[in-house]
Amino acid sequence: MTTSIGAETKPLRIAVPVAPDKATTALSGILLSGIVQDGDRLIFSPDNELVTVLACVQSGDNKVSLTLAQPIRLTGPALASHEDNVPVQTDVFLLKLDPAINKDQLSASNLEVRLATGTFAITAFAVAEDQLTHDEIVVRCTDVVAVDKYQDHETTGSCALLASGVVISQGRINMAGYADQRQLRTVRATNITRVDHRVTDADRVVKFGHTGGVLWLTGLSGSGKSTLAVELEKELFNRDYQVYVLDGDNIRHGLNANLGFSPEDRSENIRRVGEVAALFARAGFIAISAFISPYQSDRERARKATDDFHEIFVSANLDICEQRDPKGLYVKARKGEIPDFTGISAPYEKPDHPALTVDTGVLTVEQSVQVILDYVIRNFETTEKDAAPKS
Ligand code: ADX
Repeated sequence: MTTSIGAETKPLRIAVPVAPDKATTALSGILLSGIVQDGDRLIFSPDNELVTVLACVQSGDNKVSLTLAQPIRLTGPALASHEDNVPVQTDVFLLKLDPAINKDQLSASNLEVRLATGTFAITAFAVAEDQLTHDEIVVRCTDVVAVDKYQDHETTGSCALLASGVVISQGRINMAGYADQRQLRTVRATNITRVDHRVTDADRVVKFGHTGGVLWLTGLSGSGKSTLAVELEKELFNRDYQVYVLDGDNIRHGLNANLGFSPEDRSENIRRVGEVAALFARAGFIAISAFISPYQSDRERARKATDDFHEIFVSANLDICEQRDPKGLYVKARKGEIPDFTGISAPYEKPDHPALTVDTGVLTVEQSVQVILDYVIRNFETTEKDAAPKS
């Protein structure tokens, strides 16, 4: 006989607060909503482990013990769901707070959120920086977590905010302006084997005279990323560096022509560019990328794609970018003609610890290029070029 547990009021959510420290076919969790039955295929987020339930048993009010068809290994607290109605995966979300918190509470160093699956350390930022109290904050978790939007699920879409282990407020999760990272984290390629190159990284360094790497320019539209990137490319090229610019407006004409400006599309835009830049770096080039890249998690993913990543914050502020408005886009965005416009109706997350900050609101183009050029000369190892062709 098939066992069926729960009530069909909401999508299935089972919180698995404790991840066993090994791969296992036996998991127990708390049934938060929905129905689970023998034979169901469940996905465990955020690890994205997909597995069939051989048997499920209810113990106590809402505890369920699951026997799985194959062992799975969870790396942390998980939320199980059916495949066709999955929670959001993200390391950043908006939290609507009640009660509001003050500036000191917001900047406390030991903030946590207690989600349905467990308690997680966070850093938090004000949405409206100039206010004294905050009823809406941006929450950044150390790792990706599985949550729901409050509007979709009241239990998995809400949390307590804690400071030093004490609850200071309650929050409702909102993803407006932020991407569900599930698609980015889903690996579908199977049965693939890496091919070894017969030209080594060291061979390339000798041939080109310098190491490869990625100079990642991030900043608002109109901050000067593209201008600096192409000037820098010319200066480095004239000094015999192998260098190439990857520019947002250009790449969006080709490789990323099928992507728009929704949070998910921007994240995919940056995931692809991060991988392309990493390939250039691997080929021995200095790849200069000029993309708004508004989300910190996307830039961190791009950093992880390569061994040599240098985040450069082109830091002209919104007022200056809007005054410049080289493409007339800010005027349109203010009139509501361009949705999701960075800085106006979509977020820009400043880098926390950029390798270099270039304030184009203060420096001229020549001065800004010089600052980055000096940085490259200091940070990219050079060697004498080997004139003799290698056999
Ligand atoms: S990113 O956010 O995904 O990194 P990207 O750098 O590729 O953006 O593209 C930004 C360029 O697209 C801007 O310089 C601007 O010319 C154009 N653009 C069109 N729509 C938008 C928008 N909604 N927000 C920001 N830039 C936009």
